[in-house]
Amino acid sequence: MKLIKSIALVSLTTSLLIAQGQSIVDIGEQSSKLLLKTLGSSMKKNMKAGGPMKALDFCSQEAYTLTEKVNKKLPKGVTVKRISIKYRNPANKPEADEVAVLKALAKLKSANVILPQQIIQKIDTDSYKYYKPLTINKKVCMKCHGNIQNVALKHAIKERYPADKATHYKMGDLRGAIVVTIKK
Ligand code: HEC
Repeated sequence: MKLIKSIALVSLTTSLLIAQGQSIVDIGEQSSKLLLKTLGSSMKKNMKAGGPMKALDFCSQEAYTLTEKVNKKLPKGVTVKRISIKYRNPANKPEADEVAVLKALAKLKSANVILPQQIIQKIDTDSYKYYKPLTINKKVCMKCHGNIQNVALKHAIKERYPADKATHYKMGDLRGAIVVTIKK
C-alpha cells in the first residue's frame, strides 16, 4: 500500500504550485541540478588533477561546504542536501520520512521499475520535499562506492569515515537521493 501511495505522489507533482508561481517540480529540479552540477564539476576537476585520492580529499573536505554554498544561492525557504540509507557521512543520514521514500524507491528498483525523475512528498499544508533519485550511473562512482580495489584509497576512506556504509554498490544500484525541502 505504501508503495502505491508513493507512486500516486508522482502524478500529483505537475499540479503543485507555490507562491512565486513556480511549481514545486521546477524549484526542485533547478535546486537539485545546481547541487549536482556544482559537486560533479569539482569532482571531475579533482579526479583529473590528482586521481581518486585527490578527489577523496575534495569530497570529504568540500562536499559539505559546497552544498552550503549552493543553499545560500537558493530562494528563501528552499534547502538542498544528499541522503542515503547506506551513507558515508553521518551528516547525510536520512530523516524518518525520507527513509520511507528511499525504501519505496528501492522496492520499485527491485521490481525492475525505471525510477521516476522525481517524487514529491507533502510534509504539511505548506511544505514539500522533492526527491531526485541517485543511482550508481558512472563507472567512476565504483572507485569509491564499489568493491574498492585501491588499497591506499580504501584505508583513507576508512580513516575519515570509520562507520562508512557506502561501499559494495554495483553499477545501476540506487545510491540515495537529492532532497530539496521547499517551504512556501
Ligand atoms: C573519490 C571518491 C568518490 C567518488 C569517485 C564518488 N564518491 Fe560519492 N562520496 C564520497 C565521499 C568521501 C562522500 C562523503 C562526502 C561528505 O562528507 O559529504 C560521498 C558521498 C556521496 C553521497 C552522499 C551520501 C553519503 O553516503 O554520505 C552520494 C549520494 C554519493 N556520494 C554518490 C556518488 C555517485 C553517484 C558517484 C558517481 C557519480 C560518486 N558518489 C562518486 C566519495 C566519492
